[in-house]
Amino acid sequence: LPVLRVAVLGAGTVGTEVLRLISQQGEDLAHRIGARLDVVGVAVRDTTRDRGEHVPAALLTTDPSALVREADLVIEVMGGIEPARSLLLEAMSHGASVVTANKALLAQDGSSLYEAADTHGVDLYFEAAVAGAIPLVRPVRESLAGDRIQRVLGIVNGTTNYILDAMTRSGASFEEALATAQELGYAEADPTADVQGHDAAAKASILASLAFHSRVRLSDVHCEGITDVSAQDIAASARMGRTIKLLSIVERVQDESGERISARVYPALIPDGHPLASVSEAYNAVFIEADAAGSLMFYGQGAGGAPTASAILGDVVSAASQRVRGGVGPRESRYAELDLIPLDDL
Ligand code: NDP
Ligand code: HSE
Repeated sequence: LPVLRVAVLGAGTVGTEVLRLISQQGEDLAHRIGARLDVVGVAVRDTTRDRGEHVPAALLTTDPSALVREADLVIEVMGGIEPARSLLLEAMSHGASVVTANKALLAQDGSSLYEAADTHGVDLYFEAAVAGAIPLVRPVRESLAGDRIQRVLGIVNGTTNYILDAMTRSGASFEEALATAQELGYAEADPTADVQGHDAAAKASILASLAFHSRVRLSDVHCEGITDVSAQDIAASARMGRTIKLLSIVERVQDESGERISARVYPALIPDGHPLASVSEAYNAVFIEADAAGSLMFYGQGAGGAPTASAILGDVVSAASQRVRGGVGPRESRYAELDLIPLDDL
């Protein structure tokens, strides 16, 4: 079988699990792809730390730039805007395909990445950037591409769902619940992105861009997090038969100005009988409403190392298989230039 050289940027919560799956499922993956995956290096900041049996010390490097130049496929799980953006642009300019879980980067500057993928004729996959293990990007980007999506609505941040659930069910404090979510690997390196709603807003911008074939940036999304939700709010909601959940909603809106997009993230009171009210721990749940398909519901683990690695490996199989066949995967479809509802009007 031919060999594909794989560079992994980051070996934290997600990267370690990606490397475990590649190592444990190497034979199966090779047969599915039609090529062997050869991990040629793993970029980290600290090469002295033991990262377990699936991350050999000999592969660790602090020179990600050199690493991406020798790869056919780059898996980016380091997070943050820089140096991730420059490294992915460099990788694509050297002909590598990219798989990334970096929703912050996609929401802030996805256009640079899409353009580089087009210019260099390589693939850019990012299933893990939205809702962990749940297949959501592919359904919106590909399966529903022939339909007309009206709305995508749901819970897309595991950390805040974990915190609200722990505060509701076991009376945990906000701080205790956040600390546990961090220990379990659900939170971002800087958890303010989770609790202030920016992570959910980044995912909303990605979903809106894909669903409405338009370009919606993080700054276009109205965003309220859960930092002002108190134990008293949760108790009062329970007395009313309601559960507080952090919702992300992106939808087409018809008004006197024509068709526009609304994109917003905020804590909402969900009636207890509604399926979203019973989404527990770091699970996510998302409804999609499309003209022909009707209503679809997606549910599963929205955060954590192994669930996220599952989504990444799916992308790795797609990107690697395309390289073996000499094809390319889905491209950005940005034909609609829909206006956004101004944030003040939401
Ligand atoms: P971690 O903080 O656990 O891991 C980040 C890794 O990247 C670490 O190994 C770190 O090295 C390395 N790294 C960071 N900056 C640099 C740099 N400048 N140069 C070299 N290496 C660097 O993050 P996660 O694994 O949790 O998340 C990774 C990505 O996946 C993020 O984009 C995140 O948003 C996304 N994601 C995370 C999910 C989750 O549930 N955790 C779910 C979905 C997406 P070192 O170990 O030496 O510090
Ligand atoms: N911090 C993110 C969350 C990770 O809690 O949902 C998954 O994207």
